[in-house]
Amino acid sequence: MKEVTDISSYDAIKLVFYVDGKRVEETDVDPKMTLATYLRDKLKLTGTKIGCNEGGCGACTIMVSHVEDGEIKHFSANSCLMPICGVFGKAVTTVEGIGSVAKNRLHPVQERLAKAHGSQCGFCTPGFVMAMYALLRNNPNPTVSDINLGLQGNLCRCTGYRPILEAFYSFAVDENGTLKVSEDNGCGMGENCCKLKKKDENGCCGGEESTPGYTGGERKRKIQLSDLSDCKPYDPTQELIFPPELKLHSYESKSFAYDHNHTKWYQPVSYENLLCLKRELPHARLISGNSELAIELKFRFIDLPAVINPRQVKELHARHLEDNGVYMGTGMSLTDMDNYTVQLMKELPKGNVTGISECDKCQFLDIHCRETITNRMCVSNKIFMYRDTEHTGVLKHVHEMLHWFAGIHVRNVASVAGNIATASPISDLNPIWMASNAQVVLDSDARGEKKVHIDEKFFLGYRKTVIQPDEIIKAVIVPLTQENEHFAAYKQAQRREDDIAIVTGAFLVKLDPKTLIVENIRISYGGMAPTTKLALNTMEKLKGDKWSQEFLDKTLGLLSEELKLPAGVPGGMSQYRLSLALSFFFKFFLEVSKKLNLTEIKFVDCNLKIGQDVPQTLYATQLYQEVNANQPAHDPLGRPIKHVSGDKHTTGEAVYCDDINVADCLHMAFVLSPIAHGTLNSIDYTAAMNVDGVIGYLDAEDVITGAQMGHHSDTPVFVKEKITFHGQPIAAIVATDHEIARRAASLVKLDYAVEKPIVTIKQALEAESFVFKHFVIHSSLNDNEQVIKNDWSKYDRVVEGSIDMGGQEHFYLETQQCIVIPHEDDELEIIISNQCVNDVQIEVAKCLGMAQHKIQTKVKRIGGGFGGKESTGAILAVPASLAAKKFGKSIKFKFERFDDMAITGTRHPFTLQYKLAVDENGKFIDLDFTALSNSGHTIDLSMGVMQRAMVHADNVYKFANADITGKMCKTHLASNTAFRGFGGPQGMFGTEIMVKHVAEQFGWDHDEIRQKNFYQEGDCTPFGMHLNQCNVTRTWEECRKNSDYDKRLEEVKKFNENNKFRKRGIYLTPTRFGIGFGLKQLNQAGALVLVYTDGSVLVSHGGMEMGQGLHTKILQIAARCLEIPIEKVHIHDTSTDKVPNASATAASVGSDMNGLAVQDACRQIMERLAPFKKLNPDGKWDDWVKAAYVERVSLSASGFGIIHHEPVDFFNGKGAELFGYSVYGTACCEVEVDCLTGDHHLLRTDIVMDVGESLNPAIDIGQIEGAFIQGYGLFTMEEVKIRPDGIRLTRGPGNYKIPSADDAPRHFNVSLLGNSSNKMGIFSSKAIGEPPLFLGSCAFFAIREAVRAYRIQNGKTVSFLFQDYFAFHSPSTPERIRMACEDFVTSHVPPLPEEGSYTPWTTSV
Ligand SMILES: Cc1cc2nc3c(=O)[nH]c(=O)nc-3n(C[C@H](O)[C@H](O)[C@H](O)COP(=O)(O)OP(=O)(O)OC[C@H]3O[C@@H](n4cnc5c(N)ncnc54)[C@H](O)[C@@H]3O)c2cc1C
Ligand code: FES
Ligand code: FES
Repeated sequence: MKEVTDISSYDAIKLVFYVDGKRVEETDVDPKMTLATYLRDKLKLTGTKIGCNEGGCGACTIMVSHVEDGEIKHFSANSCLMPICGVFGKAVTTVEGIGSVAKNRLHPVQERLAKAHGSQCGFCTPGFVMAMYALLRNNPNPTVSDINLGLQGNLCRCTGYRPILEAFYSFAVDENGTLKVSEDNGCGMGENCCKLKKKDENGCCGGEESTPGYTGGERKRKIQLSDLSDCKPYDPTQELIFPPELKLHSYESKSFAYDHNHTKWYQPVSYENLLCLKRELPHARLISGNSELAIELKFRFIDLPAVINPRQVKELHARHLEDNGVYMGTGMSLTDMDNYTVQLMKELPKGNVTGISECDKCQFLDIHCRETITNRMCVSNKIFMYRDTEHTGVLKHVHEMLHWFAGIHVRNVASVAGNIATASPISDLNPIWMASNAQVVLDSDARGEKKVHIDEKFFLGYRKTVIQPDEIIKAVIVPLTQENEHFAAYKQAQRREDDIAIVTGAFLVKLDPKTLIVENIRISYGGMAPTTKLALNTMEKLKGDKWSQEFLDKTLGLLSEELKLPAGVPGGMSQYRLSLALSFFFKFFLEVSKKLNLTEIKFVDCNLKIGQDVPQTLYATQLYQEVNANQPAHDPLGRPIKHVSGDKHTTGEAVYCDDINVADCLHMAFVLSPIAHGTLNSIDYTAAMNVDGVIGYLDAEDVITGAQMGHHSDTPVFVKEKITFHGQPIAAIVATDHEIARRAASLVKLDYAVEKPIVTIKQALEAESFVFKHFVIHSSLNDNEQVIKNDWSKYDRVVEGSIDMGGQEHFYLETQQCIVIPHEDDELEIIISNQCVNDVQIEVAKCLGMAQHKIQTKVKRIGGGFGGKESTGAILAVPASLAAKKFGKSIKFKFERFDDMAITGTRHPFTLQYKLAVDENGKFIDLDFTALSNSGHTIDLSMGVMQRAMVHADNVYKFANADITGKMCKTHLASNTAFRGFGGPQGMFGTEIMVKHVAEQFGWDHDEIRQKNFYQEGDCTPFGMHLNQCNVTRTWEECRKNSDYDKRLEEVKKFNENNKFRKRGIYLTPTRFGIGFGLKQLNQAGALVLVYTDGSVLVSHGGMEMGQGLHTKILQIAARCLEIPIEKVHIHDTSTDKVPNASATAASVGSDMNGLAVQDACRQIMERLAPFKKLNPDGKWDDWVKAAYVERVSLSASGFGIIHHEPVDFFNGKGAELFGYSVYGTACCEVEVDCLTGDHHLLRTDIVMDVGESLNPAIDIGQIEGAFIQGYGLFTMEEVKIRPDGIRLTRGPGNYKIPSADDAPRHFNVSLLGNSSNKMGIFSSKAIGEPPLFLGSCAFFAIREAVRAYRIQNGKTVSFLFQDYFAFHSPSTPERIRMACEDFVTSHVPPLPEEGSYTPWTTSV
């Protein structure tokens, strides 16, 4: 008999699987490779994207099909977590397999998503398509809840989710199974909706009433951008069939083994073999779902000589009811486990089976039925006859917890065994197992099977259990709740969906029903210790006590004693974690008391449910004006046409940098600094150079002496001596493939001395560490020669304060990447994912000592930028160019998400200090405002960011006098950089806080204060700009009206009166955003328009397509200018050899500037064609073009455009007409806060935005929705975490949370202000990319209102005395919310020790 470790003893030793219906047989692949890498690198199926490589973004979603119990099953999965051998005998479907633009065949999912404008940069789109596709394959008639569930785990950074949900909800059926294609969505006109006004009418006119257009002609108002009713229906019979070979040859029951160099993969099918393998190879890792192991492999470079996949072993899939509870084999995925739990909950009677009843299956009276006599199962029919209680208490909470456990794609593969074996202290399930006294079945060949309780003895320490190396977890046994037992579990995370817990709590109590004496109590927590913890001491002291009000007080006291955490505890949030632990118990206490109808218990009638259920539909309107009725049909301008790449986004055919394959290409990886500040002594490459496939290395020695990157040449390419931030590039390894380069880079040894870093703004101020001189603005200089010094003592009403606003990771779905191809004559071709081809060209030329004309930099499209790819391209393009020169080969360099987030900076964190005097009417008279930014280690764009913060510190308000100062702090952090809004949101945040401070300090209505101080037409800002066409009041009033603000404000007040622990807040926030670059020379653009003899037109311009629809708008502009259909115009890419010296695509002016340049070029062409049109007035475009060619008239033109700019003197503070115009908008948000946990739901958002004459309402509304959600993330949940020693903790979606689809409001109305025009913008339009972002803060302020209501209720804020302002910093994370919601629970939490007496886990930078 052959050994079980002998590969040849297995049924299959070749890896066979199917991809998109094609057979793949593989004999030479590393089992450590993921499916995502295999699909992209080996099969060149680049539709599947990689955004994070850690299961946190969903860009890599694919569908896997296999045979189970004779049936074909489908599930979605993250291909970045799926080991390639894990698909043995299975069929994989990728986005390429379901539809194609090239083949003119879009799948209904793809068609609807594109038609609903559901993609912007398109990088997340294939993942969303595959998530929805997999859902439909399993369930062709999903409900809205099914769809919400199916999208868990897919992130989009661009769209704000509304159009994605709209597209996918069009597949939803209601509870009767009827398709919900067209919803009566209500109308963005709010109370003014005609349906409400004229009650007798059948329905809403959809705003389709005609209004006179600003430029003449009749224009209709529309309320919906897309109509999906004419899309093709979903027909499941048309889907790709499951490969017959896999079914015919029963691959699911074949054992499989694979040997590749250093890694062996074993996939037994017999249980005995599995145990034998574990006996022979005790240290071989079991791979179940690989959702833990994949992270270790990818980021900790663990070695895996042998792995065992137990998933094919039938015994591990066993599930049944037994004496002690529910037996669940660990071969099940968490989704299977969840489905089984739901099945059991349906089957098990809910209780109250009293007296003698007849078993409807076995026909025995329960008194005779052998099993039911003992309250057990009726074996013959697997039916339970339990008495008097709900036996599914634990199961119900397992099911509920699983909903919040990771995302669906992870749960489809992950196992409960992996979760238990990993022993994470923040596991979501382990507290449930502990509190319910669940057991695991452990088995080994040597010692046989045993059952072990998951209790205080099971977890030995951080990520350590009692499981022996040769043992496997065979099953978990979940107890059924017994008579008089009550069970509940709760979880709180930074983001509700797809996030690991901050704290999880699970509770079981058994009460004597008559005396209410506690017979048994089990209290367990995750997130409160290095292991899952049972509160043993508390449990012990509670037994025998009576369940009463005193019992609650005693428990909170005992728990706060037993669970208290040291101030600097790993993971931080010591006070919040304890508050959560106590609040969870309080919730449990009330829920049980409510169930037992204990009316004497305080608050027993309170509704404690966290937030609201997500509504079963989407109430969303997009209100815009249609083009004039007399606009020619072929003229696309102003129409909501879809993104020019929309279809290709959905099929994965849109090409991004990493999708381009270059022959004979080498790859690069950085060696990064592990410390924030210090001195580098030496680098040892020996171990790295010994890795097969490594070609060489690069470091500071390879850079021309003195060459530095950045506009201010202050950024070293590699560290030479001084290390100035954690994650700084020190060296790079060049190898034959990306993974080899990364692995080798991790082996490079660095010798360095650590020095104390400056990390925070406060530390920088103390050390007087600044990147540049301070800036000032004095409004008095607008009218006077000298700054007027005001005497503050003369004012009666002054508020003074300081507020912090955190940074924000860009989290573009496509990480930074480039390809450098060396050509003859020393030329370099650089393909890069960047917002500024010009800067990349300049920086490479400067650092390599080359002329710019030898460097061609180009971009097809980028997968999101948001400012993060504006000035950072050199960080990778320069080293890659150096490597291309050094090794004479093409170089591909892509950042892993983990590295990208360390190397490149974030939005600048700010501290905003203010002193404001108001008169007796609430008018702002004098302002002293200081903005302090954390700039990081170099200047980068910090000057521009600060200046923009300063010129937005007025937001929409007139200050009689304002003195504004800006200081840029130099710290040992990555250089903070541009981010959508570019400092504007930070400045405006300070202002809006100030408004609140004034209102709360003096007891005024904050809306009235705002309105009193709004800018009026022609007013001058502190920085000297006069506001023309000032629409702040119009957007404010329209938003107030559309959102029914006043009525809802009253409803919110009522809600708050009636709810003790849940509070609502509603808020209106206005914004103004100045349009243009802060630097004069950047406000210019070029374009090249080429007309070919067939009449087709090629447009090149200097702007990058990064999802904002720039190319679509430019095509519309060119088509209008040339008077031809849009189909005749094409844009290939953006390249420095077509348009030189192009500014970054930033500052929202992409379409303004580049549009003007294109317009200029088109005008020249039209002028040249004019004589031919005159000669042949009945001819067409093609005829005139041909005639011009024959007459030797040039058919190409380069155009040029500039936009208005006047420089402000920031050194002396003298203002100027800085921007050409401003964009205005107002948002209204309503939120609900769970004051016990800090969780919140954004219930509804209404936005009115002034975009002038929209060039494309679909794109503009998409920008508004996307910017709003990005701003919402910034102000409420995204938290950059830095340790006091400067180590960056947030480096991926695992610990940095951007909003998910679940967070998007299901009531979302966006309205473009009607009849607005802009004489300074192209075709009267206004820029839109950045202006709406600040409106996301409206949710923050609404949350603050809810918190305030709770504080007032609890006497923490004494509103009648006024002076009730409380500082509430941004972002409003669950921690900040909960800790501001002071109450009797938080009073049990000890205060933090004095600052400086301990090292906090993270620091506010
Ligand atoms: C994006 C993402 C989100 C996540 N979110 C959550 C979350 O919300 N809550 C949470 O608790 N966890 C979360 N996790 C962690 C992880 O998904 C779970 O711990 C999961 O249950 C692990 O199961 P697995 O089968 O994938 O484990 P694997 O990665 O396959 O294995 C993990 C460990 O368990 C061992 N193991 C596997 N099977 C057995 C067995 N049968 N017997 C003995 N040992 C075994 C392996 O050898 C390995 O050491 C998340 C992970 C990711 C990637
Ligand atoms: S790349 Fe796989 S989930 Fe992000
Ligand atoms: S379109 Fe979703 S991330 Fe860009």
